[in-house]
Amino acid sequence: MEISVSFPPDFLWGVATSAYQIEGAAYEDGRGPSIWDAFSGTPGKTYQGDTGDIAADHYHRMEEDVALMARLGIGAYRFSISWPRVLPQGKGSVNSRGLDFYERLVDCLLAHKITPLVTLFHWDLPLALQSDGGWLNRETALAFAEYAEIVARRLGDRVRWWATLNEPWCSAYLGHGSGEHAPGLRDLQAAITAGHHLLLAHGLALPRLRAHTRSDAQLGIVLNFTPVYPADEQPETQESAQQADAFHNRWFIEPLYCARYPETLFSALQVQPPAMEASDLELIAAPLDFLGVNYYTRLLVRASAPANGGPISARLAHETVAPVPGSSYTEMGWEVYPSGLKDLLLRLQHEYQPKTMVVTENGAAFHDEWDGNEHIHDGCRIAYLRQHIQALGEALASGAAVRGYFVWSLLDNFEWAFGYSKRFGIVYVDYSTQRRIVKDSGYWYASFIAARRPRS
Ligand code: FCB
Repeated sequence: MEISVSFPPDFLWGVATSAYQIEGAAYEDGRGPSIWDAFSGTPGKTYQGDTGDIAADHYHRMEEDVALMARLGIGAYRFSISWPRVLPQGKGSVNSRGLDFYERLVDCLLAHKITPLVTLFHWDLPLALQSDGGWLNRETALAFAEYAEIVARRLGDRVRWWATLNEPWCSAYLGHGSGEHAPGLRDLQAAITAGHHLLLAHGLALPRLRAHTRSDAQLGIVLNFTPVYPADEQPETQESAQQADAFHNRWFIEPLYCARYPETLFSALQVQPPAMEASDLELIAAPLDFLGVNYYTRLLVRASAPANGGPISARLAHETVAPVPGSSYTEMGWEVYPSGLKDLLLRLQHEYQPKTMVVTENGAAFHDEWDGNEHIHDGCRIAYLRQHIQALGEALASGAAVRGYFVWSLLDNFEWAFGYSKRFGIVYVDYSTQRRIVKDSGYWYASFIAARRPRS
């Protein structure tokens, strides 16, 4: 299948990464520890005890990695800044060597005509702040706003695209509810509190970013969405799909775009609403220039008997239908469902009217085999990207205001609790030598972009 949709010439075609997943150099140049260092260093928390200590060694290979992107003709690069590299204690004294690294990265990107998109928080909270409660402490939101201003003062003249947080749903729920991510708490009420403070951090940071960035800066946030589809026509199934949707998709976007939490979210989850101050929701809902949308898969659900307590799906009275007959799955066990991206973008457009959307992550883990030569044949990943870009183009043609698309990921990297066992890169990393080998999907993406580049 060829891509049969067209895109505007200034559409951003990018790739994405995050600091802890690629940088390594975990103890160098004054970087402080983060909750992910502590978590991955705790036995049993990640696949085979993998950590981000070395990762893809990007901290030492930054110029080489940017040059590789340039060779592939990548137009934009989304990366995250490590808060503990900039503020080793989370607040207080600034480690200028940390800022120097990101300044060199930004300058290197601009020299190669690659547009930077900075994410300020991609889960690596300074460990020192965790000792004071981390996201359960309202003060962490204030510390984040301070950190955002420090970064903006250094890079705000050159970087146009800024995202405050990456996937606060994951920080809140996977970090505090299910315990799969750092800091590893298993307390749903704590997840709700953490979620509120994450949103508050975003709201407090926005005016600080606005004040210290270029006048044409585009400020936004990145949310993950897992569209929920009912598996049958039963009213109970429709109802449980609604509840699952509130939990997976509306928990964060409604406060941001409507200054309220979804009405029945907390009662359905059997928790209390978060404690908040009167002006919080107004702060959180300040206008955004763009919404970052991360999309990987969907959820197909049918009603099940409701339960008091227990796992989320039981509280929300649904079970997941998997495997879906006829569907294919990635190495993560995620269903490949390209039309979910189109449905999602159109729904977001109609329900929340974001000024602009950017698909800030989309991609797939597959089992890549490298035989030691120059090629890695990852046809499954090419098919995944092609189908999703087709769906993206259809959404655009039907009225979704999308301006960019970022493949997750440039490089194979540390996939959180899955360690190095899952490879999402369009570039393979041989971790024993840190050699980079462009996969077929990398060459495919390069030629896709080249075919759309405006002639100068
Ligand atoms: C997203 C994360 C990103 C990566 C992909 C596969 O949830 O933002 O860091 O792990 O999933």
